[in-house]
Amino acid sequence: MGIRNDLETGLITLHTAHTSYQMWADGLGVVHHLYYGPSIGEADLRCLEFRSDCGFSPQPAGLDMQRDYSLDTLCQEYTGSGVGDYRIGCLRLAAGDGSRIADLRFAGAEILPGKYELPGLPAAFDNGGECETLRLTLRDPVTGLTVILLYGVYEAADVITRAALLENGGTAPIQLEKAASACLDIPFGEWELIHFHGRHCMERQPERAPLLHAVQTIRSARGASSHQHNPFAILAAPHTTEDAGECLGAMLVYSGNFKIECELSQMHSTRLVAGISDDDFCWTLNPGERFAAPEVLFSYSAAGLGLLSRQYHHFLQHNIIRSVWRDRPRPVLINNWEATYMDFDARRIWDIARQAKELGVEMLVLDDGWFGSRVDDRSGLGDWECNEEKLGCTLDQLIGRVREMGLLFGLWIEPEMVSPGTALYAAHPEWVLAAPGRSPATGRSQLVLDMGRPDVVEYLYQVFHRLLASHDISYIKWDMNRNMTDVFSHALPAGRQGEAFHRYMLGLYDLLGRLTRDFPEVLLEGCAGGGGRFDAGMLAYCPQIWCSDDTDPIHRIKIQYGTSFGYPPAAMGSHVSASPNHQTGRSTLLSTRATVAMAGAFGYELDLQKLTDEEKDLVRVQIQQYKALQPLLLEGRYDRLTDALADTCFTAWQFTAPDKSRAVVSLVVIDPQANPWPIHLRLKGLDPAARYRESLTQHIYTGAALCHAGLTLPIMQGDYPALQIMIERMDTE
Ligand code: GLA
Repeated sequence: MGIRNDLETGLITLHTAHTSYQMWADGLGVVHHLYYGPSIGEADLRCLEFRSDCGFSPQPAGLDMQRDYSLDTLCQEYTGSGVGDYRIGCLRLAAGDGSRIADLRFAGAEILPGKYELPGLPAAFDNGGECETLRLTLRDPVTGLTVILLYGVYEAADVITRAALLENGGTAPIQLEKAASACLDIPFGEWELIHFHGRHCMERQPERAPLLHAVQTIRSARGASSHQHNPFAILAAPHTTEDAGECLGAMLVYSGNFKIECELSQMHSTRLVAGISDDDFCWTLNPGERFAAPEVLFSYSAAGLGLLSRQYHHFLQHNIIRSVWRDRPRPVLINNWEATYMDFDARRIWDIARQAKELGVEMLVLDDGWFGSRVDDRSGLGDWECNEEKLGCTLDQLIGRVREMGLLFGLWIEPEMVSPGTALYAAHPEWVLAAPGRSPATGRSQLVLDMGRPDVVEYLYQVFHRLLASHDISYIKWDMNRNMTDVFSHALPAGRQGEAFHRYMLGLYDLLGRLTRDFPEVLLEGCAGGGGRFDAGMLAYCPQIWCSDDTDPIHRIKIQYGTSFGYPPAAMGSHVSASPNHQTGRSTLLSTRATVAMAGAFGYELDLQKLTDEEKDLVRVQIQQYKALQPLLLEGRYDRLTDALADTCFTAWQFTAPDKSRAVVSLVVIDPQANPWPIHLRLKGLDPAARYRESLTQHIYTGAALCHAGLTLPIMQGDYPALQIMIERMDTE
């Protein structure tokens, strides 16, 4: 188990509980990738390496007569540049003399206890004895460029993290034009790419397609990981399903511009390269300086996509999310956004709070519109002083009354933005991203602050530190409501503008890191127009992220389904909103909306006063139900029981306690049928020998019967009816 480094052969093998990963530094110092898959014990897989004299694939200097050795066909751990590997590369650079070549050769390997850290970047951590680190050094002899490949081997979790540190050990500056985090070469097999695309209000929709003899790229150039693509991809064997078959995932711990590229090579091997996007990227690495490329989390499953997802859920919950809230039940909240939008004063908020408290809600979240001149989305961002005139009282008075009612208080902020016309913009026009001589494009009428500037970060730190230190605030919703344009930093010289995007992310992480360290008890919810920055980088600071601005439960089923491939349900902010829904106009039952929202960090986002007495009673019951279910959500196993994108009649999912003592199955009819077929559902993950009572009929079944034979459910008709079925293990006599 752990990491094996055989100095005699140059073989290095990483072992997790169920997987092995093997590489080999040959006599020339080229580090070959040999294997990533199910455990292979002590095997030496060099014998599997395929060598052939492949036409037009050159040989490294000195190997003229060894025609079957080419960097163009070998599987490698990290590629250099300009030395004969024509597939997607990890590196692109311009050295001091203008040459664009880096020939990376092995210069040492070290095994270290614990988990490495990455300067300035979020990364997985070790809770104690979970991880071992491999540090592999590669060096280009001419430029002095050193690439340190870092591998974090999490044995029990079946996760291998990777990252790269690039150091200039030479005497002249190096321009890095591409600096990927990791390359994964898979020598054999057929693979399909699953990725998660979308748009605002329909994020993370899985799409699956065979790899082509071409480059397939998932990327964001928007300054955030984005609604459109997610920095997570899966390679799956063609027949892999939820429960069977091979698949492996690559998830970036990064929230900015990224690229995941896949290619099927001329020799039919597969290459995946992941890291910061090289579009609009150029980083000057002066002698002695180091650049850290963000982390990628790799995980492999030989038992289908369901297991792969559970491996990521567990890993993100335990090794990425740092917040003290990660295992704590989250307060059931009421958010005023869809109840009032920006049209409110303190009295209106107190009315909402009073009603919510009466129904069992635990926290009031005051959304956008409480500060500066913010009466609509054209103004106010940046002036983070309470608008007392609008509220009719001070922020403390507003919070005080909410707290007296017995509710916690949460607040919305959007720190990275500024509205033109604010005092902040007037004082510091140079703080926005905008190029000389050009009027920057706006998005939602706002401009983007240059988070790459230490003075901007320091200013925001002071503002929000003061806000949190001087008011009784338990929760923050950290929003980010536009994508970037005009990315030019007034703090950087002309030759370094290619650094602005990444420096923005470093500044953002710095600010998030400082505020979460100062206020560890504040529950932070990430948001970017819903799920426009839903990634492992943000989860390092925010234990939950608002999943989507689309709260229509029938759409949310699909959004939460897609999100669940990589991310734990407990991290998905999910609310019951009004019917008809504000985004789609669709009407659904209150019970259906709650069933869907209970698959995430639960709350309400509507005017509770408008509910009938009967509905209010139902809300009381829902809140108690959710509180009873929350441990399953936080610690339990999550299973997708149907394919939400392909379902024609109903969608179902299941949470199961780690000890398999209980489970809850949720089901929503998405298209009621006339003269219907039976709804038949097989459950997952129960103890086959145990006896369980099912709450619908009170029948008792063995776990094996529930998983193999399943349940036949009653005919459900009407507007999107939903069911929650409790499965309880019977005490053994
Ligand atoms: C974004 C968020 C919403 C809401 C608004 C406020 O769109 O996703 O939930 O907070 O901003 O302006």
